[in-house]
Amino acid sequence: MSPAQHRALASLWPRYGLDFSLQPLDTAATFGREADVVIEIGCGMGETTATIAHARRDTDFLGIEVHAPGVGSLLKHAAALELSNLRVIRHDAVEVVAAMIRPAALAGVHIFFPDPWPKKRHHKRRLLKPPFVRELALRLRPGGILHVATDWEEYAQEMLATLEAEALLSNTADRFAPRPDYRPRTKFETRGLTLGHGVWDLIFRRR
Ligand SMILES: C[S@@+](CC[C@H](N)C(=O)[O-])C[C@H]1O[C@@H](n2cnc3c(N)ncnc32)[C@H](O)[C@@H]1O
Repeated sequence: MSPAQHRALASLWPRYGLDFSLQPLDTAATFGREADVVIEIGCGMGETTATIAHARRDTDFLGIEVHAPGVGSLLKHAAALELSNLRVIRHDAVEVVAAMIRPAALAGVHIFFPDPWPKKRHHKRRLLKPPFVRELALRLRPGGILHVATDWEEYAQEMLATLEAEALLSNTADRFAPRPDYRPRTKFETRGLTLGHGVWDLIFRRR
């Protein structure tokens, strides 16, 4: 972690950080208002997360990331943009969703460029597996959006099959969706594009 990320973590955690808890999160109390809530899983260095939260001030965002330098970086972006509609949890998103997010609490779930785990023997580590997709779908309110993007074609196809098999979700597109204007290019995506990768967005709605 860079000294700046370390300082950001220490000084900005009280303002933006939420500790993992086994109690469901009271989002209205956390953000001090009743508003749509979107979670982002795996924010990375957080530029995209902060940019989206800045552009959509009417919505509250909860970033979930395990990587401490990424969390430090996200906190720096949040402070620079003086965001009041963003909080961050540094913990495994699977546990956060299970313990802290109430059913039908969310307007959206963003998962941008989840670790692709390209080797076949590592595919079991992928985040977007049917049981977790079901958990996410249950946390979305009817009409809520699950938006996933990847630069790994084979994972894109696997996720398309998984999401289309989930009865609580319906595809908003015919297979893959065009990148919506609200999603800026992420750091990981830019790296993939430099390597000649394609990009696939999947946008599903909770029935
Ligand atoms: C490939 S990076 C993409 C980061 C960012 N979204 C981007 O597009 O630049 C995937 C991120 O997901 C995070 N991550 C992976 N598994 C996670 C989990 N179970 N809970 C929270 N974060 C996770 C990793 O630490 C990493 O920062």
